[in-house]
Amino acid sequence: MIRCAITAVAGFLPENIVTNFDLEKIIDTTDEWITSRTGIKQRHIEKDPKKATSDMCVEAVKLLCKKSKLKVEDIDLLICATVTPDMVFPATSNLICAKVGAVNAWGYDLSAACSGFIYGLVTGSQFIETGKYKKVVIVGADMMSRILDYEDRTTCVIFGDGAGAVLLEPTTEDVGIKDFLLHADGNGVNYLHMKAGGSLNPSSPETVANKMHYVYQEGQAVFKHAVYNMAEVSAKIMEKNNLKAEDVKWLVAHQANKRIIDATAKRMGIGSEKVMMNIERYGNTTAGTIPLLLWDYEKHLKKGDNLVLSAFGGGFTWGAIYLKWAYDGDKVSS
Ligand code: UT7
Repeated sequence: MIRCAITAVAGFLPENIVTNFDLEKIIDTTDEWITSRTGIKQRHIEKDPKKATSDMCVEAVKLLCKKSKLKVEDIDLLICATVTPDMVFPATSNLICAKVGAVNAWGYDLSAACSGFIYGLVTGSQFIETGKYKKVVIVGADMMSRILDYEDRTTCVIFGDGAGAVLLEPTTEDVGIKDFLLHADGNGVNYLHMKAGGSLNPSSPETVANKMHYVYQEGQAVFKHAVYNMAEVSAKIMEKNNLKAEDVKWLVAHQANKRIIDATAKRMGIGSEKVMMNIERYGNTTAGTIPLLLWDYEKHLKKGDNLVLSAFGGGFTWGAIYLKWAYDGDKVSS
């Protein structure tokens, strides 16, 4: 049986850091409010207006190739999960491949907001498990700062910019992706979306004047759905695979709000020492959060560790993946 394993991870964050105290100077907020309600202390924000999502992805993919000694021309498929593509079309995936020289790859963008990376991981893994491909790269990346209204304190404090990438390869060992549960409910559209720029509300002077090109979120409604569904799907995947709390080594949860992550861990019955967390440094990087967690925690990961990846996001979209980690992270140079 061919299984699909993550065999390398990498990431990229823009240099510029914006702290809660910096935000206090431009909007009516406080470090105390942001920290206690979300867990966020700072986020990385790209300052250079010439840079776009693909540029962050290029840095992540280059590092991935360097770390894993992957020849870029050996990449068969590159999927980019993002809601902040460089342009509506062509796909950011195409732009990344062109910029890094992945001349033998094809690819596509995947729009599933904060669940984008897990949707991408499941989709990409199918090409490995069927034996069709040997090297698949999944990138999760968002330059959220480009679609945030810095006069709206309910959204601009939450998000940040960042990109993460993983390499998928086949293995016949008992490691890699074991199971997944994915869900979607388009009825969630009203609570989290960007109103204009698509075929429903094409860009016009009115859409710009009415601030319709920014993230719109009804925070409390999204929070309620996120807490319920992320906890539920994470518990379900454990149940389905007969995993007890002591069998799970790490929860790798989308970083939207520390309170949502804590509720998920509680439902799974696992302690905070098993919960990967970097929301305090990066904020919510949308499709970037999960690969960035894997990158940050790589040195702590051991071959055979049971990981539950779990996310909830706009759409609504949500899901969980159960995987066995494929290598000792402390033996890899970062
Ligand atoms: O990643 C994709 C999915 N997204 C999520 O999972 C996000 C889910 N939602 C959340 O994480 C939370 O709802 C937020 C962090 C967005 C907001 O936290 P909350 O505890 O739900 O706050 P709230 O919206 O109920 O607002 C409470 C109060 C309000 O003031 P009043 O009406 O009680 O006077 C807000 O105006 O907090 C106020 N407020 C702020 N105050 C200071 C909202 N944003 C801020 C702010 N600074 N930045």
